Amino acid sequence: MNRSIRIPIICLALVPVVSARSAEQMPEKSLRRSAEGLFDIGVGIADSIADRVGDHRLLLAQFSCVTPENCMKPAKIQAEEGKWDFAQADRFVDFAATHDLKVVGHCLVWAKDDRTPAWFYRDGEKTAGRELLLDRMRRHIENEVTRFRGRIAMWDVVNEALDDGDEYLRVSGWSRACGEDFIARAFEFAHAADPNALLIYNDYNNELPAKREKQIRLVRYLREKNVPIHAVGLQGHYEIDRVPFKEIEETIVALSGLGVKVVISELDIDVIPRGRWWAEGGKFREELSRLDPYRDGCPPEILRRQAEQYAELFRIFRRHSDTIARVTFWDLHDGQSWLNDFPWKRVNHPLLFDRQGQPKPALEAVLSALN
Ligand code: GLA
Repeated sequence: MNRSIRIPIICLALVPVVSARSAEQMPEKSLRRSAEGLFDIGVGIADSIADRVGDHRLLLAQFSCVTPENCMKPAKIQAEEGKWDFAQADRFVDFAATHDLKVVGHCLVWAKDDRTPAWFYRDGEKTAGRELLLDRMRRHIENEVTRFRGRIAMWDVVNEALDDGDEYLRVSGWSRACGEDFIARAFEFAHAADPNALLIYNDYNNELPAKREKQIRLVRYLREKNVPIHAVGLQGHYEIDRVPFKEIEETIVALSGLGVKVVISELDIDVIPRGRWWAEGGKFREELSRLDPYRDGCPPEILRRQAEQYAELFRIFRRHSDTIARVTFWDLHDGQSWLNDFPWKRVNHPLLFDRQGQPKPALEAVLSALN
């Protein structure tokens, strides 16, 4: 019999209460430690993180904040009217609380028709009118935000409502019925349900001049109406050698001038640029879908350039840490990145940790930029 288990009960009572995070889980040099006092460091992770024990060490060592990839989106929470499914989201939030991680709720309204369950827009055989649509939105937001009140620090209230082309707002059932008012209402409903949560408008390419103008117009409109918008999310899905540093910094300054915080909400640097996938009506897709240049590993030269570009980004974020509330990477390590499948299948290397969860040159570069 192992003697050590015969410890008198009294001794156990004297053992100090240890925090959920052990010393091993908190190495001296980590992203979260290096960013202390500047901003939160977050990561978008699998909804089932509680069961993915192999991921816990890396997650807890490096990050202070988590965003669930899918389980809080409208299509998961209320796929059919009144059929609520919080099982996965509850487990996610419980896991985060146990490990002292902040949670970002993502997202209450995803202003794209293919991401909004069809029932939202229907009224029997007809298209739902403005009042019905807004009432459904209110119920959705109220129910979800109230359930997690006090346990979710920040919400992506509206995701991707700005148009990529000539329109101001993306054409959707939301914008057709309500114009920009649906965005205002979403923030009001969320604020009423949890007055302490940081409320975010989130989008991609909103640092690039064309979309930035729309982003600024939207924030101005909301601020003038005293709508409780607290921050703008720049998703930050960048491509190597095309990171728009200047535009990112200008956008952070412009948004700060409007009185809102900025979060970098879904950061990665794709090493196999994907922009051509959408060029000239998709005529390169056939060729691109066979492109998989780094399937046997990422060349050191690419890793070096990626590291430099990550460092430059973090120097900008550091300079503006009074405006930036959080920087979140999208996925824990290269093997889990969405960019291995989107927009075509390839072995990608966009993050700070490789497929074994080991640090890449980019980690060291980011740590130095932060220190
Ligand atoms: C968008 C969404 C995220 C996620 C990523 C790709 O940026 O906001 O929820 O779906 O695309 O994975």
